[in-house]
Amino acid sequence: MKLFLDSADIEYIREAISWGVVDGVTTNPSLIKKAVVSMQAGGADVSMESYIKKILATVGRMCPVSLEVAALDHESMVEEGIILYEKFNSVAGNVVIKIPVCTVNGRGEGDPFDGIRAISSLADEKIPVNATLIFTPEQAMLAAKAGADYVSPFAGRIDDRIRTAAGVPFDKTDHFPVQGLAKTDDGASYDDFGLMSGVDLIGSIADIFQEYEFSEECEIIAASIRNAQQVRDCAEVGSDIATVPFDVLKSMIMHPGTIDGIDGFTRDLVSEYTGLFTKDSPAQ
Ligand code: E4P
Repeated sequence: MKLFLDSADIEYIREAISWGVVDGVTTNPSLIKKAVVSMQAGGADVSMESYIKKILATVGRMCPVSLEVAALDHESMVEEGIILYEKFNSVAGNVVIKIPVCTVNGRGEGDPFDGIRAISSLADEKIPVNATLIFTPEQAMLAAKAGADYVSPFAGRIDDRIRTAAGVPFDKTDHFPVQGLAKTDDGASYDDFGLMSGVDLIGSIADIFQEYEFSEECEIIAASIRNAQQVRDCAEVGSDIATVPFDVLKSMIMHPGTIDGIDGFTRDLVSEYTGLFTKDSPAQ
């Protein structure tokens, strides 16, 4: 499974890339705003355009970087997608345009299919698209059929919705059981549109994509990831990619057993062993 960094923080991006495990980066308007505003607050004279170009150059040619459009109607989304692609793809050839799969807002305004239309139009222009804000396998199928190169199901936010419906207090980083939350002793469970958890959503999309050969054209990016164990859960159900916040990626390396092992091996180091590492040790 590939790992993307879900961040627009250039320092996090640099550090994670230095570990040699980052295959791409996803951003959204909230992440870019957070990063640029914090740099400007620290006195840096940086524009959003120059900052995005810096991210693209840092991430480099082989690693896709998702940039999201702002509009919600078909014509403007396509126009913005083309502008973003023309303005930024020349930096490192790695821009992917992020389009919301469904384009209705909280007031019920908007044509629900304008996102799908925009995906289809940008695919016709050979511009790579990441269909975002996916909460059902049906949305993922529509996006793949329209020509999206990636679909981004939001695993963590599904878990939040189920826990909220169940009235279960939670911290966003808590691990959520893949099989969901039981409602009663008779086996009934809380669900969200028939899904038991965010990982259930990822697994369902992976099965459908495999069965109907969408997976050859369209990769699944497990998004809205909240903890290390959820990354493993997504890998187990066949996600192609997980896009992971910096702190979650960092936490994936830690285990007390590894630390104890390091201490034990270090305690047992004798000088004859450490002497093995001198380049000019005489041949035996
Ligand atoms: C994905 O591309 C989104 O940027 C992101 O994963 C959303 O995550 P959140 O639910 O933690 O905001």
